[in-house]
Amino acid sequence: MSNTKKLIDGLNEDLSAEYQAVVMYQTYASLVTGPYRQELRAFFESEVPDELGHAAFLADKIVALGGDPTTEVPKVPSAKTNKEMLENALQAEIETIDRYMKRIDQADEAGELSVKVRLEDLVVDESQHRDDIRRMLKDWQ
Ligand SMILES: [Fe+2]
Ligand SMILES: [Fe+2]
Repeated sequence: MSNTKKLIDGLNEDLSAEYQAVVMYQTYASLVTGPYRQELRAFFESEVPDELGHAAFLADKIVALGGDPTTEVPKVPSAKTNKEMLENALQAEIETIDRYMKRIDQADEAGELSVKVRLEDLVVDESQHRDDIRRMLKDWQ
């Protein structure tokens, strides 16, 4: 398999994870309850356009590289409490950063410098998401 094909396959894996993040944050925004509902809802809603923007970049890039962008949306993990939602979101952000670190190497191997640089921007965004959620979970009873 060529390095470009490997990169396209990887970017498709990332794309479906971004779609999953869109559905996850939108769903959790609807599900939150309790005294912090307003804040949590606003937080989850604010993630949706970020993740959708990532998905749009990936879909465009996959096409530009000659691939077919996936329309698969993996199932969102269910959560019964606000804390569980935040923990699921934190786990997803950590896994996403790991995937992008791997993808940066693949973009390098495929000689796609501009993809590599944009993926680094995505790592910055996802790291911000991760850190925000970590701060929210700290001291949560
Ligand atoms: Fe994202
Ligand atoms: Fe994120």
